[in-house]
Amino acid sequence: MKVLVALILLVQLPIHKAVPAAPPGPLGCDDPESEAAAEFAVNYINNYSHHGYKFALNRIENVRVLPQGLNNEILFLELDLLETECHILNPTPLENCTVRSFTEHAVEGDCDVKLQNLDGKLSVLASKCHSHADSNEDIVRVCPDCPLLVNLNNTQVLTAVTAALNYHNSKTADAYLKLLEIGRARIQYEPVHLVFVEFAVAATNCSAEEAKDNVDACQLLPDSQSNFGFCTATMAIRPLQDLQVDCKLYGHQPGVIYQPGQDTSAGLLPSVVQGFTNHNLRLSHNNPVASESSSSEFPTSAVAAKSVVKRTVGEVAQHDKVARPVGFVPPPPPCPGRIHHFKI
Ligand SMILES: *[C@@H]1O[C@H](CO)[C@@H](O)[C@H](O)[C@H]1NC(C)=O
Ligand SMILES: *[C@@H]1O[C@H](CO)[C@@H](O)[C@H](O)[C@H]1NC(C)=O
Ligand SMILES: *[C@@H]1O[C@H](CO)[C@@H](O)[C@H](O)[C@H]1NC(C)=O
Ligand SMILES: *[C@@H]1O[C@H](CO)[C@@H](O)[C@H](O)[C@H]1NC(C)=O
Repeated sequence: MKVLVALILLVQLPIHKAVPAAPPGPLGCDDPESEAAAEFAVNYINNYSHHGYKFALNRIENVRVLPQGLNNEILFLELDLLETECHILNPTPLENCTVRSFTEHAVEGDCDVKLQNLDGKLSVLASKCHSHADSNEDIVRVCPDCPLLVNLNNTQVLTAVTAALNYHNSKTADAYLKLLEIGRARIQYEPVHLVFVEFAVAATNCSAEEAKDNVDACQLLPDSQSNFGFCTATMAIRPLQDLQVDCKLYGHQPGVIYQPGQDTSAGLLPSVVQGFTNHNLRLSHNNPVASESSSSEFPTSAVAAKSVVKRTVGEVAQHDKVARPVGFVPPPPPCPGRIHHFKI
């Protein structure tokens, strides 16, 4: 009898295994194919982003597939992203970049991406993104004293960045650094008054010592030798004044260039004149080939949502027809997908 049971199990095993291997019906947001396409899209978006920070996937909001023929399909993805702590010039791979916590005042990105999957090879045909900081109210509710994002051209921020860079340059025996852009800035007023700044820098052709004689002659290194870096600094204003600065250079990265912002007149300090709290992905991320496409490239959310609802209803109806074993757990709705980090 035992042998018989074992035999039956053996025979049944392949049948059970075969079920997930051939998933019927629509593509769900958490399906491996959706995840793979989203990962590709996020790398693409970071690849063509020139300001601010790298973004990581938080959730696949929606996915839609348009079959084009044999081994050829178009995918429309709606993605929720979150800002990481890696500046766009930081060579750390995205997988190793920490997503900024909610209380650090999270910044969310929304992207519509149109991809082609041809013979298993993905390419991005169009992408459209924007990003925005979470509201002050959301942060204060959870953390009443937490520092909040402020505009990058805030005078306290500019004072802190200038003081921090001067301090670093006065202490280092290394290259004299110049400011490329302010990445983010937060101010806390109670119980102590603190200004937190983060900014991208680049090495010049002067040592800090040489810069003392004639700072105007110090030029950013040419692209073939460029050396970018990043500084974080905290300036305490009250009750005691203090300044802590930490700068590090990434070393030369072949092929990586920094594109100054469009509205920079001096060729430097692009973000200093700008009144925003975060670099918007809409402006930071662009690629001459496939970006900032007109909205007509993308199905409207309403259409996409409708098709998902229809599919879900269809699935439920199908399941209802078959006799359900006791304890049957209905499948999770195909979209939106799971939250990778936290919900805003
Ligand atoms: C990233 O950018 C480089 C240079 O522009 C390009 O060759 C590469 O294909 C891009 N990768 C992705 C995933 O878009
Ligand atoms: C990224 O993280 C992995 C696993 O933690 C580690 O093995 C690898 O060295 C890290 N790479 C970088 C560039 O930090
Ligand atoms: C840096 O480059 C500028 C312009 O090429 C040049 O005039 C200056 O002498 C260089 N400074 C040093 C220390 O090499
Ligand atoms: C910051 O920039 C905005 C416009 O970009 C401007 O309206 C505002 O006055 C500026 N703030 C400061 C403190 O310079």
